[in-house]
Amino acid sequence: MPMFNVFYIISLLLLSTSAFAEGDLAPESPSFQASAERGKATFDAVCVHCHHLTHEISAVGCPGLEGVLTRHNAEWIDAWLTSPESFAKTNVKAKTVVDANPYGLVMPTLPEMVKEHDRLDIIEFLKTLK
Ligand code: HEC
Repeated sequence: MPMFNVFYIISLLLLSTSAFAEGDLAPESPSFQASAERGKATFDAVCVHCHHLTHEISAVGCPGLEGVLTRHNAEWIDAWLTSPESFAKTNVKAKTVVDANPYGLVMPTLPEMVKEHDRLDIIEFLKTLK
């Protein structure tokens, strides 16, 4: 196989695994659209260990997330998800949420919530929990 072809194939492989990986579009990209479906998949993988989707508080004191967007707006939830611990140091409402939990378990900063598009997807999903 000529060298030229080898480089061509390698660059195609690199492109398909990085730049164009599905769901990896930056929020500022015109084709990005927050997806409740992707958000639900993240919820089922990450948040479900602590939170119920009803009003019910979990056994370890995590608030049920039903109607969460009636308690906080999307911008607040975005900041919360980015880092609950540091947000609670600067935001009075976030501190109130932490103080209201009598069990002493604090929501950690989650590696899955580092990327803005992942947070926007999960917020889109939380909006469906009326
Ligand atoms: C290790 C357990 C844990 C995980 C995992 C977790 N949380 Fe939490 N979350 C908490 C706890 C505990 C609180 C209550 C505040 C506190 O004490 O930090 C909370 C509070 C919240 C609140 C504020 C709720 C309210 O009614 O004020 C939101 C929103 C939230 N979590 C969303 C999420 C989402 C979305 C995920 C998944 C990406 C997630 N959490 C993952 C433990 C967790």
